[in-house]
Amino acid sequence: MAEDAVLISVDEFVMDVPSLTLMQIAAKYGIQMPRFCYHERLNIAGNCRICLVEEEAEDKMLLACSTVVEEGDIFFITTEKILSAREAVIEYLLINHPLDCPICDQGGERDLQDQSLIFGADRGRFYEVNKRAVENKDYSSFIKFFLNRCIHCSRCVRFFSDITGTNSLFLIGRGYFSEIGLYTSPNYIVDIFSGSVIDLCPVGALTSKVTAYTLRLWEVMDIKDFDIFDCLCSPIRVEMRGSSIMRILPSSGAYFVENWISDKVRFNFDGYLKQRLIWPFVVYKGRLFYRSWVCCIFYYKKYLSEGWRFPT
Ligand code: SF4
Ligand code: FES
Repeated sequence: MAEDAVLISVDEFVMDVPSLTLMQIAAKYGIQMPRFCYHERLNIAGNCRICLVEEEAEDKMLLACSTVVEEGDIFFITTEKILSAREAVIEYLLINHPLDCPICDQGGERDLQDQSLIFGADRGRFYEVNKRAVENKDYSSFIKFFLNRCIHCSRCVRFFSDITGTNSLFLIGRGYFSEIGLYTSPNYIVDIFSGSVIDLCPVGALTSKVTAYTLRLWEVMDIKDFDIFDCLCSPIRVEMRGSSIMRILPSSGAYFVENWISDKVRFNFDGYLKQRLIWPFVVYKGRLFYRSWVCCIFYYKKYLSEGWRFPT
């Protein structure tokens, strides 16, 4: 996208900015702009409608994430009309969202919580309506699906289509019956970067099976590090509670613009404590026997001479 400088006005502040989308300009200049479906590394979808803004020359409201600014544009982003439109969008999203933040693994770190607090109203008008229910799916060994919480932002769908190209998830059905799912068989996500959608999901519909119900954001301490598992030295953030590694997340580094990390990097710590091989098997006359690591190390030659075999 061309970056010629243009002169625009945002809430009566005149700015000399590059010709980008209003959302990109807001991020660049620290202007607070709500977003759910927009993500700086994914294609623009424009389907959550939370980033509404007014432009003087237009009769209707525009989406900040898909509006490229032009010379002389005059935008209003905090008028009463815009603020009430954003409140209405959040109110509609919350009709079906289960509001189970106290038991949600993503409680305290999700966009929907933060943005409802800042841009939402303090009450809704849909108390009597039953919440929509969607059957949970089991498409992955790493990802827990809580599709009742999904707001159909399509970030996960776009990640698998735009970034990895595996098209592992789709938005299937229409209207009330829309849900995240797979058209294809096997009904399983086969993608080495699949864990990234846990970070992308703004509402906790996709959470990590490995860290399920084990941590809260405010209990852990961040340590910046580099990964050594995939020879790319990806910058990572290791979240520790005491001396235990609770979670590994991508971090940004000076030489890494794309900071997606693979599932090997993200979930390898599961083998340090929980899924550690404590009792190795040895094979004797076709049968498996438990032996301790100490036995295996000290009596290795003896076992071999007696016909014991170590499974490979
Ligand atoms: S599962 Fe999450 S990321 Fe995917 S569409 Fe739903 S809310 Fe968006
Ligand atoms: S962030 Fe603009 S429509 Fe979702």
